[in-house]
Amino acid sequence: MNIVLATSEAFPYAKTGGLADVAAALPQALSKNGHKVSVIMPCYPQVFKEKYATLSVAIEKLGVPFAYGQTKWCRVLKDKINKNLTFYFIEYNEFFDRPTLYDYQGEEYDDNAARYCFLSRAVMETTIALNLKPDVLHSNDWHTALCNVYLRSNLYQSYENFENTKSLITIHNIGYQGIFHKDNMINTGLSWDYFDDSCLEYHDQINFLKGGIMCADKVNTVSPSYASEILLPEYAFDLEGALQHIDYLGNLSGILNGIDTDEWNPKTDKKIPANFSVKKMKGKAVCKAELQKQFGLPQKPNTPVFGVISRLATQKGLDVFAYCLDLFLIHDDIQFVLLGSGDKTLEARFSELAAIYPEKFGCYIGYNDKVSHLVEAGSDFFVMPSRYEPCGLNQMYSMAYGTVPIVRGTGGLEDTVTDCDAEPIAKATGFKFYDLTGHALSESIGRAMNLYHNSRDNYKIIQRNGMNKNFSWDHTANQYESLYLDL
Ligand code: ADP
Ligand code: GLC
Repeated sequence: MNIVLATSEAFPYAKTGGLADVAAALPQALSKNGHKVSVIMPCYPQVFKEKYATLSVAIEKLGVPFAYGQTKWCRVLKDKINKNLTFYFIEYNEFFDRPTLYDYQGEEYDDNAARYCFLSRAVMETTIALNLKPDVLHSNDWHTALCNVYLRSNLYQSYENFENTKSLITIHNIGYQGIFHKDNMINTGLSWDYFDDSCLEYHDQINFLKGGIMCADKVNTVSPSYASEILLPEYAFDLEGALQHIDYLGNLSGILNGIDTDEWNPKTDKKIPANFSVKKMKGKAVCKAELQKQFGLPQKPNTPVFGVISRLATQKGLDVFAYCLDLFLIHDDIQFVLLGSGDKTLEARFSELAAIYPEKFGCYIGYNDKVSHLVEAGSDFFVMPSRYEPCGLNQMYSMAYGTVPIVRGTGGLEDTVTDCDAEPIAKATGFKFYDLTGHALSESIGRAMNLYHNSRDNYKIIQRNGMNKNFSWDHTANQYESLYLDL
């Protein structure tokens, strides 16, 4: 098949979260299966850094129609990964040459509606200019959701290039919908007919994700459990009506993300101080000692280390974590390491814990890919108390690195982690709790400590069960293949 995948970020060029990992690994896996994949995303020169200089030119000058009949001229760069896979980058500096992708110091850029409306339009124009003739146009989240609308619209219906094109939208996170003032309709180039409850209109505002959902031929999300959860008001952020309609038509599904086992593999990982595998675990102790050192904690091999890597956003439930730790920190031989950034109140709270308990709580406020590998490799447990989690990648990275996850049973966390007290030990991979309360989370941390200190053999079995799990993309890519074929 011939696939165009539109995204706002992809690793290793630009990443703020799991979308970037998926937008890198899925195309790779599909291209290995013989499909031709073109990924189209923005060029963020300040974020790409040295990668920027390695890109070549695909289209020197591409005109993209924009508001008030104007044309914006951009350049399209490319990176050919293999004979079936090319990444294309829309270079339009007025919109994308910024220090960060979506917001600056916590404030969203005020022209995000224009920026990502332009991106979707540029995806359509690039597809035509390169004569890609896709079988599938696959958009991801709100940033590229207008592609699904454009494909159905009078603006692109008559292009031969899209004659046989069907579209899919993947919802990675319904908490971000791209909701803007209706004046932004002008940027879309679409007529006001599309500002309708069956398309972009939402409480008299424009909603990019809703438009994509309503116009796509199929909609999927990144785990089976999340596909059921988003039919409920508790999880749908007000889009349950639209999604129930899509589900009724049989067009909604959930496909669990895989993990990139080249990038996240303790046997070969070059970002960690020692490698290890399920058969040879020695290196994990070296990683633990280095982790403790880098986070300024005493290097105690028998003190359990609980790791966290996260965007500090409401979604992640870390507010609950932040305020249930004191008793552990006061009384127990325990260590926590946290790598994350986002919410300023939480950043301050975690820095405060590190100041009060320097021997027990280490934190790194910021984003650091290398440190994230060390946290996965060196921790004994990994904590993810998410309020909601469409899929979640870190619990799978953790299992691959013999780091036992403690998760709230929601979305992809529910689908990937098996609780050691609820199931026979032979099946167990971690700890799961359901109430998002300090009490429930503390109880699970307590169970984990008890296992670590008093049943080390069982701890090792659970560790091994996780390491033996296969979360590779091959299986996931096959499911996307079937979904594309259905289209
Ligand atoms: P989400 O996409 O909602 O943030 P995921 O679990 O799907 O959650 O993916 C998060 C990805 O971002 C993981 O690869 C994780 O390691 C990475 N990540 C999150 N915060 C940081 C950070 N502060 N430094 C480095 N990597 C981070
Ligand atoms: C989103 C979700 C996360 C998921 C990722 C990749 O950012 O929050 O759960 O793993 O997308 O699909």
